[in-house]
Formats: sequence, C-alpha cells, structure tokens
Amino acid sequence: MCINTRSIKPMKILGIETSCDETAISLIEVDNKGETVKILGNTVHSQIDIHASYGGVFPILAKREHQRNLVPVLEKTLKEASMLSPGQSIVTSEIEKILGREPELLTMFKEVMPKIGRPDIDYISVTYGPGLEPALWVGINFARALAVLWNIPLVPCNHMEGHILTALIKKETSDYKVTKPLFPALSLLISGGHTQIVLVEEIGSYKIIGDTRDDAVGECFDKIARMLSLPYPGGPKISKLADEAREENILSPEPLPRPMIDSKDLDFSFSGLKTAVLYLIKRLEEKAIALDETVKKGICREAEDAITDVIVAKMRKAIEKHGIETLIIGGGVIANKNIRLHLEKLASDCSVSLLLPQFDHATDNGLMIALAGYFNSAKIVDPRLILKASGTLPLGPRA
Ligand code: KG4
Ligand code: ZN
Repeated sequence: MCINTRSIKPMKILGIETSCDETAISLIEVDNKGETVKILGNTVHSQIDIHASYGGVFPILAKREHQRNLVPVLEKTLKEASMLSPGQSIVTSEIEKILGREPELLTMFKEVMPKIGRPDIDYISVTYGPGLEPALWVGINFARALAVLWNIPLVPCNHMEGHILTALIKKETSDYKVTKPLFPALSLLISGGHTQIVLVEEIGSYKIIGDTRDDAVGECFDKIARMLSLPYPGGPKISKLADEAREENILSPEPLPRPMIDSKDLDFSFSGLKTAVLYLIKRLEEKAIALDETVKKGICREAEDAITDVIVAKMRKAIEKHGIETLIIGGGVIANKNIRLHLEKLASDCSVSLLLPQFDHATDNGLMIALAGYFNSAKIVDPRLILKASGTLPLGPRA
C-alpha cells in the first residue's frame, strides 16, 4: 500500500476516539515531510468513575457519556489549539438526521456548534472499530456531522493501528519527531480487548501472527483486580501493588502458572491465569488466611510477573522466527512499568530497536486516531453516507 506522507503544506488532523470509556479528541499538525508532529490540542475525558461501580465498562452508559462529553471535549481541544473562534455554521436537516440516534448529542450540537467557526483543519479522523459498538457509533456520527458541517474530509480509522502509530512519535523539545521504522517490524498490541503480535510489513499492511485464545491481557489484569476487590480498571492498581511488593520483598503465598509459555506458536491464553488466582483465593479462604493488603500485594506481583514472563517469551520467539529489527509496542497495558522494563531488556538482548509510546499516550486517546488519520488520509469516505461501527474490526489477516 502506498502511503502519502508528503503534502504541500503541513496537515492538520482532528482525531476522535470513543471506542471504549474515554471520550478523546486531539488536534495535530504534521509537517509537509511527515517528520514532525505538533500536538495542538489533546483532551481525554475518562469515564472511569462512572463505570467503576460496575467493575467494568457498561456499553450503554459509555454511549450516554460520549453523547454528553463530545461537544465539550471538542471545545476544550479547539480552545487549547487556539482554534475556538466564533462563527456561524448551519445545522442542516441532513446533520440532524446523522445525529438522529444520539438525541442528547444532537441537542448539544444544535445549541453549541452554530456559534463555532470552521477551524482550519484538513481532515477529521474517527475510530470505527474495534471496540464497543454503541460507543463507536456516537463518535462516528459526531465525526460525520462535523465533516458535513465544516465540509472537511472524513477518514475512518482502526483503533489498533492508532496504538501502533503512537509509538512512532518521540518528544523532542515541544514537537514530536516521527520515527520511520525499518520494515518488516513486529508489533505487540496489549490492551483491554487485544493481545496480538503483528507483523508490520509497512504502515498500513499488517498480519496477525499471534493472538489470544481467550481473555486479552488487560482483561486478565482487570478480572484479577476484581477478584482482589481492587477498583476498575485493575491494571494500574495491580501494577502499583506489585511495585510495592517488590520494594517490600513480599511474595505470593503460591506461584501462578505461565499459560502457554512453552507452546510452539505465538498465541496466548490468559483465562487460566485468572482461574488460578480464583482457586488460590479459595484455598486461602479455606485455610482462614485473610486476603489482606500484604497477601494482595504478593498476588499482584506474581500475576504481573506471570503475564510479563509470557509476553517476553512469546516476543523472543517472534523475534527469532521473523528476524526483524524493530519492535513497536502499543495498547493501554504498555503503561505497565514492569512489562516495559522487561521488553526493554529483551530488545537489548536481541539487539533490536524498541519503540514504546510515551506513558500518557499508552491508554486510549485522540492523538492515536489523529495519527492514524494522517497515515490514512488517502482513504477518505463520504460523510453523508453511513459509516458502520465494526466492533471486531481486524487489523489484518491471520497469518
Ligand atoms: O488501550 P486501552 O486504553 O483500551 C483498550 O483499547 O482496551 O487499554 C485499557 C487496558 C485496561 O485493561 C487497563 O487495565 C490496562 O489497559 N492498563 C494497565 C495499566 N494501565 C492500563 N494494565 C497494566 N498495567 C498498567 N499500568
Ligand atoms: Zn485501546
């Protein structure tokens, strides 16, 4: 696939992300050589507090919250980019129809958007999958409505490609430099919904060479956290307690398995680890051992070590098998310090270069979708036509 990374003038892209529980919009400017990225505005509105009491993301609530948050998040992003100027836009009946299934969003759109001037933006990009479909639809329809209102081309993007691309930018003074990796590269995608090893032949061409057979790694962190009565999302909390366990020399009462660590393929399975934690907790109960803070810390450390060991072993296997020179890591779980550290060690052992996203760009954000919009700017669609949400949108074929 030929990617147009050169344009006559710098390109400004507004990226919209609503695939899960973050309402996120980012506005970036990429120079005409595709070498530097300026983040002009970047807003992430997390719904964590709303979903926490359910112990996970509740899709219908996520949809409702995205409807409420999109317009304020857009205003905040434009303001940060000094692009929020008064204007007169007309919300036509066509736009009203596009937002017909998002009544709360439509009301706010009609109230606020006519007073905002058309910003100087070249593309609007939006996640159309994978993710929670009710949540995806809101972002898609909002992006379509904006594209029609301001007459700006619309680029549909794959959320997982966004995670890959986020690792390509590195902060240098106030701007970000875009790394051009040597291809083929290997990407590891670890998030709440995905655990995949991807052969990246070039940007835009992906083959899935390893996948989870059951739970995704982030899901495993979150489920183990729930068993330990830790708040949602569990990943950051487990990571914190595991760090404390290492500092305080606390061990788990029992070891946990490393599922599929020795299997010849590059696939993963994390549901066994979750079940092992469940049985461990039951055995502790039977022995009348309290699941206190110290025991929890030990279990968190062991669970994190088990996950890290499996990931590192599979990535080592993938590097040896495919002889690549660059690793690109993406997805919320790469906010995990222990996994980062061990992947850094692996990259150094195998003499491959490692591209990691900045810590605060690991979990979902609009920046990743703005970057995906930049790299896919040749794939615009007509915002007047329906753009379907695809909950299971694949990044590429399974090799
Ligand atoms: O990429 P992401 O923000 O959303 C999806 O696309 O799924 O990933 C969210 C996942 C959650 O499962 C969360 O628990 C996990 O990333 N996560 C972590 C950490 N921070 C977020 N997992 C382990 N350690 C962390 N520090
Ligand atoms: Zn994600």
